[in-house]
Amino acid sequence: MAESMQGWKRSHRCAELSLKNVGEEVTVMGWVQKQRNKGGIIFVDLRDRSGILQIIFEESDCGAEAFAKAEKMRSEFVVAVVGKVEKRSGAVNENLKTGEIEIRATQVRILSEAETPPFPVESDSKTKEEIRLKYRYLDLRRPDLQEKLILRSKIASEMRAFMAKEGFLEIETPILCKSTPEGARDYLVPSRVHPGNFYALPQSPQLYKQLLMCSGYDRYFQIARCFRDEDLRADRQPEFTQADMELSFVDVDDVIDVNERLIQHICKEAIGLDIQLPLPRIKWQEAMDRYGSDKPDTRFAMELTDVSDVVAGCGFGVFTSALESGGSVRGLNVKGQAEMPRKKIDALVDFAKGYGAKGLAYLSVQEDGTYKSSFAKFMTEEELDRLVKAMQGEKGDLLLFAADKKDIVYSVLGALRVELGKQLGLIDESEFNFLWVVDFPLLEWSEEENRFMAMHHPFTMPMEEDWQYIDSDPGRVRAKAYDIVLNGVELGGGSVRIHQNDIQEKMFEVLGFTKEQAREQFGFLLSAFEYGVPPHAGLAYGLDRFVMLLTGADNIREVIAFPKIKDASCLMTEAPGTVDAKQLEELCIAVTTADVLENGKKEEA
Ligand code: AMO
Ligand code: AMP
Repeated sequence: MAESMQGWKRSHRCAELSLKNVGEEVTVMGWVQKQRNKGGIIFVDLRDRSGILQIIFEESDCGAEAFAKAEKMRSEFVVAVVGKVEKRSGAVNENLKTGEIEIRATQVRILSEAETPPFPVESDSKTKEEIRLKYRYLDLRRPDLQEKLILRSKIASEMRAFMAKEGFLEIETPILCKSTPEGARDYLVPSRVHPGNFYALPQSPQLYKQLLMCSGYDRYFQIARCFRDEDLRADRQPEFTQADMELSFVDVDDVIDVNERLIQHICKEAIGLDIQLPLPRIKWQEAMDRYGSDKPDTRFAMELTDVSDVVAGCGFGVFTSALESGGSVRGLNVKGQAEMPRKKIDALVDFAKGYGAKGLAYLSVQEDGTYKSSFAKFMTEEELDRLVKAMQGEKGDLLLFAADKKDIVYSVLGALRVELGKQLGLIDESEFNFLWVVDFPLLEWSEEENRFMAMHHPFTMPMEEDWQYIDSDPGRVRAKAYDIVLNGVELGGGSVRIHQNDIQEKMFEVLGFTKEQAREQFGFLLSAFEYGVPPHAGLAYGLDRFVMLLTGADNIREVIAFPKIKDASCLMTEAPGTVDAKQLEELCIAVTTADVLENGKKEEA
């Protein structure tokens, strides 16, 4: 029978003990990692969130009854042990924090027994992720996962401490909201009291934090849960956490300043990393031109080269026709890879096609100075020489080219650059390259919607000097928006907000909202602005991403206690699930079962 805690109190966590405690009587509690019965002596490795501690049971110390309990112990039993800390009699275990000591047990309680777990509870488990997520409560016992969640907690508390010191107030904002326009699909919650009406779960606290500025709170901070119904990726979850802030009476540099110091503080406190300030800043256009990405990984070079001018009028139709239709031709110089096998190059071409390329032209400079190329036959020797020179191609280099509309060329070469950086081992994994990307365009053209969309969100302030182009050339207007990027991942983003109603109205007009639609969706914000609004600006980090990068995890699921999988379901609780007919009735909701399969998935059209 499982025993209770009555009269017993834990004195230490397992790995809090060391040589300093030798001679003390202690009470430790935790899970049995391993039990080894050597006849008259039983060794038990006891584990809690601090680490592992070796316990020794001998009948002469603990008596027959306790010894019998130790004999019974299996992996994952929960036990409590009273005993004396001793210097290890056997060899020191270098792999353990407590490797120099052991506990000689005098009393023991079995607090609960355990079934054999479906996979061993240990770091670097090779178990399939589906199994681990189904038994997440066991998975979460693994020391490497525990380490990450403990660091996550540390990062969050250090953030809070820093923000409080800087005069930020922590204020909670609602989860049951009206839709917030961050560009993803909303999760909706039906209202029982207002049948046919729905709350939206917040995609971010954006509107509320702006209202708090109107209300004079000046500096707001929140660790806020956000919900976005979008396709999941390695760095995206349907519900995730933002470290969110907003400041009044500030401009771009003020926000960047406080955030640089926040980043410096977190890195130092969480992982002992010294960050030099100020962090580099790069303009969006320059980031696109050099890296093909608005979140460049600057841990390696291999920058893009624009060769549009060099190949203009050459004999290769793929290049010239792209240029004639207003596109661009750019290349990557993959140093020393002239001998890359054809098969590997073909795989790169397929990779590029995955990002919308029609093809990928290549040329390698052989050791004898001749060229091997997929397009050499279309160009003269002189044209080829000029192209190679423009690319700074040397013997042994492989040159890759994309010709297309500019945004496709950027996205293809940007992705290819990162892929090659990984494949060729060009990335120093020990580096942490923070970088601000600034001067984003205010708007981006959506082919799908056939209109301009806000690149950040509709409340982002245009740059004063560009506002004159809002009617004649809207795409030219830059925004007071900034992203913080770490090692090629967008860690956070924000902007100075529009606080003038006339600019805001014009923005809505450019974005295709009628006055009525704008009032209907954001009336409360526009009204608030009529009663005295301070200039304000803010930023939000993806906290999960921040933790992922600082812990070296390669997936956001590794730093979230209970994550969802790709189809946004939870393997452990099996959410989402169906509900009782009665619940639906109360909500006045009818599920049209005709187009819903039995497993709750929508039938493919
Ligand atoms: P944004 O939409 O850029 O800005 O979001 C801020 C940061 O949140 C993280 N993030 C995500 N993390 C995990 N899963 C997701 N699905 C996900 N979506 C976003 C990213 C991103 O940089 N209200 C504005 C901020 C502001 O203007 O102050 C906002 O939400 O790291
Ligand atoms: P093709 O004339 O279609 O055989 O193409 C000749 C070479 O150009 C091949 O290596 C193609 O992969 C490449 N190519 C085709 N379209 C493009 C493009 N848009 N950008 C760069 N290379 C391309």
